[in-house]
Order: sequence, then C-alpha cells, then structure tokens
Amino acid sequence: DKVPLLFQPFTIKDLTIPNRIVVAPMCMYSSLDGFFTNFHLASIGSFAINGAGLIIQEATAVLPNGRITPGCAGLWDDAQVFKLKEIVDFVHVQGGKVGIQLAHAGRKASAGAPYTKYPESAFWPEDVIAPSGGAHLQWDKHHRVPRELSLAEIREVIDAFGAAAARAARAGMDTVEIHGAHGYLIHNFLSPLTNQRTDHYGGSLENRARFLLEVVKSVRANFPAEKPIFLRVSASDLVEEVEGIEDSWEIEQTIQIAKWVRDAGVDVLHVSSGGNTAQQKILTAPGYQVPFAEQIKRAVPGLAVVAVGIILDGPQAEEVLKSEKADLVAAGRTFLRHPNFAMNSARELNVKAAYSQQYSRGRTIHS
Ligand code: FNR
Repeated sequence: DKVPLLFQPFTIKDLTIPNRIVVAPMCMYSSLDGFFTNFHLASIGSFAINGAGLIIQEATAVLPNGRITPGCAGLWDDAQVFKLKEIVDFVHVQGGKVGIQLAHAGRKASAGAPYTKYPESAFWPEDVIAPSGGAHLQWDKHHRVPRELSLAEIREVIDAFGAAAARAARAGMDTVEIHGAHGYLIHNFLSPLTNQRTDHYGGSLENRARFLLEVVKSVRANFPAEKPIFLRVSASDLVEEVEGIEDSWEIEQTIQIAKWVRDAGVDVLHVSSGGNTAQQKILTAPGYQVPFAEQIKRAVPGLAVVAVGIILDGPQAEEVLKSEKADLVAAGRTFLRHPNFAMNSARELNVKAAYSQQYSRGRTIHS
C-alpha cells in the first residue's frame, strides 16, 4: 500500500479513525461552572475542519472536586451533555472522530485557573482528596493540603467515572479516555510516592492498581461495548536517577498494569510520563516519550498504543508508525501552533488529503 501509514484509517472495535493523527487532550480553562462553551466548539471544530483523525477533548472532571482549576470542564451533571453533543455532531459532520478524557485531579485539584472569572479562594471547598493526605503531600503552595479518601468515597469516585462515561455515550462520543497520568488521582493511587495507604488500595502493585482497575470496569460497564476505551498513563515518575527516592512508578510496573487493564477492557494505551512529583527529571526532545510507547507495544500484545510528545511534523510521525513503535500518533502543542497539522503532514508526505468541503478552494493554489 502506497498511502503512508499516517493517512491510512485505523480501526479498533467499531471505531474507524480516518487517519492516525490524534489531537492530545489539552485543558483550555475556558469552561463555565464545568460546562463546555463556544470556545471548545470553535477550537475542537477547527481541528476537525483541518482533518485531524481523532480529537480527544480535555481532562473533564467526573465530580466537581475533581477539577484541576475552576475553569476546567466537567461531566458530573446530565445538563453538561447538551453542549458536548453539539461539539460531537460538528466533528462528525466534518468526518472526524472525537473522544473525551475523563479525569479526577486528586491532590492536584484546587489550583487557580489562568484567565478565570472566579477568585480562587471563593471557589474551592476544603475538599482536596487523594489516596493519602497530609501536608507532606501538598502539591505546592498554590494547592490545598489533600485529605485521605475513605473507602465509601473511593466507591463514589469510581461510580462517578461510570456515570460520566454514560453521559459521554449519550453525547455520542466515539471513545472515552480515562486519565491515569500526570499526577492526578489515578496516578496518585498507582505511585508509591503518593499512595501510603495500608488498606487494600495501598502497598503492593496489585493493591495500588485496584482503584484504576475498578475505574476501568465502571467505565467499561457504562460505555457501549462496541466502542473502544483509551487509558492515558504516565509510564514513569521520571525519578529513577533522583537520590533519596527509591520507590516510584516506573516502566516495568506500567507494563504489568497494561496487561491487567487490557484484560479488563482497555483497548488503547496513550503513553505519557511524569507529573507526579516536582523532583522529576524530564529530558524533553522530539519524540521523547516514544521509547515508552514502544516498550509497552512490544511487551503487551493485543493493546494498541498512542505515542505523544514533541511530534512536530509528518515525516517524524510516519517514522514512529513505520518502525512499529506505536499505532497512533498524538500531538498537543503542535496543534495549538498549527491547527492544520494534519493537512501540513499530508503535504509533507505527498498525500492528497481530503480538504473539508468548505475549504476545498484552498487546494488549487498548491497543486
Ligand atoms: C496538556 N496536556 C494534557 N494532558 C492530559 O492528559 N490532559 C489534559 O487535559 C492536558 N492538558 C494540557 C493543556 C495544555 C495547554 C498542554 C500544552 C498540554 C499534555 C498534552 O496532552 C501532551 O501530552 C503534552 O503536551 C506533550 O505533547 P506535545 O504538546 O509535545 O505534542
């Protein structure tokens, strides 16, 4: 087949994504009381008009206290479905696919939002929850001190993930992505840096992964069986080399839980890294997280993998796919700089990409 892999469709379960380019979830701090707004319609709409294959909408809180900031989106209320459906319908008319990232911010909730109308102090309840609490686990001085979740509250959060997944389905979402990365609640449970519980949600890897697996089951049970589920993970806490830290979340554990979540119904792993401790050492360079995606893809058959992190152009993305390091390629900031990243990539790879009908006149000056 002469079509570059990047522009070949990708099918998983009943979902066929028209190309392999994914817009990574990006918080825009532009929600009002958790409701998506016209900003999201315009922003996501522009990615769709410009040919992105799959757009994953930003971290969306399953409970009010799961927002990172007051400007973050939510899906804890049936009323929040309406605007989402409008966005989903728009993307579908353009021929793209769309998912939403379901999240709980854990100990990193309660930050102030950039450009928000809310005064931070008036907004946040004394309710920052995490697997373990206490001043030593406060994220930074701009965040509240977290308190430990009770077993009953853990159950409530798990159920809230399921209820949000059901709402996402009602909005017509093609997929949901569970946010298990970047130091938010699920990652807080996984990593020994942030999970100091002594009950069956802490201690061994199996115990630390219990919350994630219960969230996966809750989401799977509430989202149409024929549609795939994504999970975003931090493959590593990125502290292996840091002195004084011995017990952290690292790639070997990620590979183990990747097998467990695959068996529990996750179809695609979206491989990021870091975010759970300020002591992390990130060496950012083009494709810096691709080796994590590759390791997981090699070790876990039957699980599709998304690579993300400083993917800057079509040839770079195509190389990731050609060398079988990942099944899909995602970009975040590249799309903010160039909402037409997919069409630029098509030009670079000599693909006659379908322009949206409305923009089709744009083709003539190039060809
Ligand atoms: C992000 N990122 C992010 N990740 C995530 O899982 N959920 C989110 O809501 C956000 N929000 C967010 C906002 C903004 C403005 C940026 C720039 C990033 C991380 C993002 O999805 C991606 O993994 C990283 O940006 C690395 O990829 P790029 O930007 O190098 O392509």
